[in-house]
Amino acid sequence: MKRLLVTGGAGFIGSNFVQMVLSEHPDCLVVNLDKLTYAGNLENLTEFMRHENHVFVQGDICDGPLVARLLDEHRIDAVVNFAAESHVDRSITGPKIFIDTNVGGTLTLLEAARDKKVERFVQVSTDEVYGSLGSEGMFTERTPLSPNSPYSASKASADHFVQAFGHTWGLPYNITRCSNNYGPYQFPEKLIPLMIHNALHDKELPVYGDGLYVRDWLYVYDHCTAIWAVLQKAPVGEVYNVGGCNEKPNLEVIRLILQHVGKPETLIRYVKDRPGHDRRYAIDAGKIMRDLGWKPSVTFEEGIAKTIDWYLANAQWLSHVVSGDYQNYYRTMYANR
Ligand code: NAD
Ligand code: TYD
Repeated sequence: MKRLLVTGGAGFIGSNFVQMVLSEHPDCLVVNLDKLTYAGNLENLTEFMRHENHVFVQGDICDGPLVARLLDEHRIDAVVNFAAESHVDRSITGPKIFIDTNVGGTLTLLEAARDKKVERFVQVSTDEVYGSLGSEGMFTERTPLSPNSPYSASKASADHFVQAFGHTWGLPYNITRCSNNYGPYQFPEKLIPLMIHNALHDKELPVYGDGLYVRDWLYVYDHCTAIWAVLQKAPVGEVYNVGGCNEKPNLEVIRLILQHVGKPETLIRYVKDRPGHDRRYAIDAGKIMRDLGWKPSVTFEEGIAKTIDWYLANAQWLSHVVSGDYQNYYRTMYANR
């Protein structure tokens, strides 16, 4: 049996990963450590909370004794670290927590994994560590790290610590760097669920700058299968880019959403740009495709249709998520744009 410590498993990608592992790999134990910040939500895991191979622990990845105890108690052989502060806009208004969680928390996990001699440490990173592209080219695993936002600077720093632990103490690690994910259970602070939610409620859709910023969209389930492939097959110390080959300007994505939910383009509102906004991300995922045989299962058109249908079918999930604190967040973040 594979015995995994998954951190951040109540967040967007982490909960999709936990669901995939428990549904498709019955010989796997998942110990899910999540602090349940604003982004963590047990409603993402409703059907899995009582699953016999799932142990949920509310706690902080910065808590060294807790992490060490979980590794011992459950005889963990691999750690998959999703836990993070993940939103660029929040990192601009308050960067400190990004250092505490993304750097300090990763360091705590690394120390425990080294001391307890876990067999593999998988760090879930982002293409944003590479910085921004012009109109040409793609990020490869050899692209130098050149992060621009406090979020990406904290993720790049964590990547360096992971590699330093491999180099200094022989910690067996892998790093995955993926492009923008979309799909079920994404918190509506990120582009796609925010636009779906606003469109459904006839609220304005706030487009930063000229709306021609490009992101390379990856359906979340395909990200999960990539991480699984890394856990199963990757040689120690390898870094893998993960991407869906779906580069789209933001406006194109927003128009598609409006079309799909039958709302008019007059809802689009151009607002003040994000400071330091990265112009374009594009991933060359050739290495993971060639070496591990991974490939995405859906096109963007299929993935976005499934995603919108999921939000339509899960109106209650969405209404719970946007009650309370979300309203304050939205007012503050979008007030002066
Ligand atoms: P998310 O914000 O939806 O979820 C983060 C989860 O981590 C939440 O459940 C939260 O409660 C938990 N968490 C936060 N601080 C914690 C702490 N100190 N201790 C324990 N748990 C804590 O994020 P996501 O979008 O699911 O992203 C998951 C990972 O993937 C992150 O590391 C992120 O950098 C990376 N990533 C995300 C994307 C994307 O498009 N969403 C793209 C590339 C990489
Ligand atoms: P986001 O989902 O925040 O992901 P990231 O910044 O990590 O790529 O944003 C995706 C793109 O959408 C990015 O170019 C910023 C833009 N955007 C808007 O135009 N309006 C919004 O309200 C949000 C949240 C993002």
